[in-house]
Order: sequence, then C-alpha cells, then structure tokens
Amino acid sequence: MAVTVRVPAKVNVQLGVGAARPDGFHDLANVFLAVGLYDEVTVTASPGGPKVTCEGPDAAQVPLDGTNLAVRAAEALAARHGRTPDVHIHIAKDIPVAGGMAGGSADGAGALLACDALWGTGASRDELLDICAELGSDVPFSLVGGAALGTGRGEKLRALETGGTFHWVFATASRGLSTPAVFREFDRLAEGLDIPEPVASEDLLGALAEGDPDALAAAVSNDLQPAALSLFPELADTLAAGRSAGALAGLVSGSGPTTAFLTRDPESAAKVAESLRSSGTCRAVRVASGPAPGATVISA
Ligand code: C5P
Repeated sequence: MAVTVRVPAKVNVQLGVGAARPDGFHDLANVFLAVGLYDEVTVTASPGGPKVTCEGPDAAQVPLDGTNLAVRAAEALAARHGRTPDVHIHIAKDIPVAGGMAGGSADGAGALLACDALWGTGASRDELLDICAELGSDVPFSLVGGAALGTGRGEKLRALETGGTFHWVFATASRGLSTPAVFREFDRLAEGLDIPEPVASEDLLGALAEGDPDALAAAVSNDLQPAALSLFPELADTLAAGRSAGALAGLVSGSGPTTAFLTRDPESAAKVAESLRSSGTCRAVRVASGPAPGATVISA
C-alpha cells in the first residue's frame, strides 16, 4: 500500500520579528498564506526504513539523511506509537528548495500525515500539530494551510479568514539562504536598537478578510527583508524588476531568497512573470495563487 499527500508552499504576507529570546528563537507575528505550489509525499512500507528519495528540478539540493524533516516526522510519529519507522518516503518536489517557501516544512507535514494514514495510527489533529511544532516553526502551518497568524516562534496558529484569491508571482534565486543565517543577520542589524514586540497588522488582516489585493499590497511587510538583502544584495534588482513590471507589491518570502510579487489578477500575474523571466535577475519564475488547502491525502 502507498499513501500520497499533497502539501502547499507558503508566503508570509507579514513577518513581524521581535528581539532574540533567551532560547535563540524570535517571537513572531507571522501571517502565513498557503499558495498552490505543491510537493507530493508518498510513503510505502519498507523494512529497515526510514529511507527518503526525491525527484524534481531541485532534488539534488534536498538532504536524504536524518536531517530531512520528512524522516524526522516518520521517526517522531513511530516513536510516539511504539513502532519502527519502516517506511520509504518519496518526495516529488515542486516547491523551491531553501527558498523561504517552507518546502522542507511541507515535506515534514506531508510525511507525518502520510505515515499516520499508512500505519493507521489514528493520531488526533492536536497530536499531529504537536509533532509538527517539535519538527520546526513553520511545519504546523504546512499541515493546516489556508491563511493563519503564527505567534510564539510561529508555531501557535490562529486560522484567518480570507475573502478571495490572491495571485502571486515567485522568483527563485541562483542560490539558497540559510534561515538561521538570516536570523543571525537580523540580530546583527538590530544590535543596540529597541525592537518592539511584533504584532499582526489590523490593516493586513482586514485586507485578507476582504480579499482586497490593493489593500493587501499596501500592508505586506517582512522584518527579515533587510537581513536577507544584506546577505544577498542582488535580490534588490529582482524586487525592482517585479515592481516595475506592474506588481502591486514585491517582498522577500520569509527568510528568502525567493521574492514574492502580489498582482491584481491572473492576467497581470502572467505579465509580471514574463517580465521577470526576461529581466535576467532571477533563476526561475512561478505563478501561484492562495489560499491553498493544507496537507491533504490524495491517494491511499
Ligand atoms: O523552527 P525552525 O527549525 O524552522 O527554525 C530554523 C531556525 O530559524 C532556528 O534555528 C532559528 O535560528 C531561526 N528561527 C528563529 N526564530 C523563529 C523561527 C526560526 O530565530 N521564530
């Protein structure tokens, strides 16, 4: 038997970052929107597992050892239920790797849901969310999808209302950025400054609820963007290219280096995508809309 789960990428429409906490993490006001770029995670019984394989354009960059969040998810669920994680996990990867779109987190949430179905574990939603939070700050959102406000280190989620579909263009970069390195750069840039507690923007939540792209464009923000730009200055050229092509807003997605451009409608998204492709400022360009559903079993 094989179980396949489809899991979306995310963009952070607001990423408010507080000062470093004693545990090294940062309190966040993290407004996630799941978008329709998906990884598919397929699990099959395989003695001696967990073993992971990956296919897709970025597959060579995906770690196939115990650091892969899909492997850690299988191990965590198995340990809680007193079984061995004898499973082969195959990832069909379409989400950019190390791009700030939660591709690794998606695989963790996907493998967790898939193993739960394969093994008939019957874990409750709360238990799955607990395991996700242990795996990483963005993993719970990959499970739930839609739109949500993440607080704490981003793992405490409140679902958000969305009043429409938002159309995005994503530009991937020639190299990745490490999330811990971007947070360290944030800390370096913040040295000596008084960093306020991050709070979700009421204007932004209102724009999401209304489904209003112009209002959302006026309210998007990413406190990690200066740190990402400091480590990867060429991203400024990509942002400028997308904005001058007619995007309503352009920002770094999460810790980057993928840049995200909000557009008014699918036609405008196609136009911005075309301009970005010919701008020579990025590696690849993808169009996707959100909100998209969270991790979903698509075949069992
Ligand atoms: O939780 P996750 O493993 O995805 O976090 C990766 C890294 O990002 C952490 O080790 C930490 O350096 C940084 N991080 C942070 N504050 C958060 C989330 C992540 O400093 N709220």
